[in-house]
Amino acid sequence: MSESNTQNDATIVAIDGPAGVGKSTVAQQLAKRLRLPMIDTGAMYRTVALKALLTDTDPDDGEAVSKIAESIELELRADPEGGVEVYLDGEAVGQRIRTPEVSEAASRVSVHSGVRRCMVELQRRAALRSGGVLEGRDIGTVVFPETPFKFFLTARAQVRAERRHRDLVAAGRGTSVDDVLKEILQRDRRDSERSDSPLRLDESYFEIDSSDLKPPEIVERMVGTIRRRQQELADPAESDDPDRDLSEE
Ligand code: DC
Repeated sequence: MSESNTQNDATIVAIDGPAGVGKSTVAQQLAKRLRLPMIDTGAMYRTVALKALLTDTDPDDGEAVSKIAESIELELRADPEGGVEVYLDGEAVGQRIRTPEVSEAASRVSVHSGVRRCMVELQRRAALRSGGVLEGRDIGTVVFPETPFKFFLTARAQVRAERRHRDLVAAGRGTSVDDVLKEILQRDRRDSERSDSPLRLDESYFEIDSSDLKPPEIVERMVGTIRRRQQELADPAESDDPDRDLSEE
């Protein structure tokens, strides 16, 4: 492993999961709570996709979109509301990366290894500076497999579609829940079946079903889990004690 694969003392929290599961909201709130930067990795793939669409580049053309990923200037800056704003070649992309067309193209450009290599490097560099809460699909498997704080968010597909639909309607996009459901299921399939860094749950993650939970409840669970893991890591003997007090968990 390269030198950049060491985590030093930076706290890295990985949140992975499928589309519409509430990762961004939860990651934003958790980052605020832990006083860490939030890194929305999906926004990075979306920005590459936006650039491809703006330049009439086919998202399935691996060589062309990899060149875009290598050549664009991509920056994530904290916004005053606690979110992140993405800058493409020095200009804020705003809601332009949140359209269904960009969602679809992002899922397609993210299949290509050349694109992924660039994004992973940017993500690691940013997070190793000061720690971070990173949300995406491959954070706990590829970007920071070494972090002990990995969460996998799931939710029933219908719930995810209804959430995404609400966001789109709020942004003035007329669409039906059924269309959104079709779009996210297709995207989930592509994101889980691609050969490079597919979305994959394994036993190193803490899994949370967000279907019937509000974001603050999920954040509470995550904070509790992180504290417990930190204690276990600081004092492994104590955490093996079957009589230990679990009332905080
Ligand atoms: O999380 P999102 O919906 O903003 O992500 C958009 C697309 O980007 C998603 O369909 C797959 C891709 N993606 C990825 O491949 N790896 C990540 N870490 C984050 C997103």
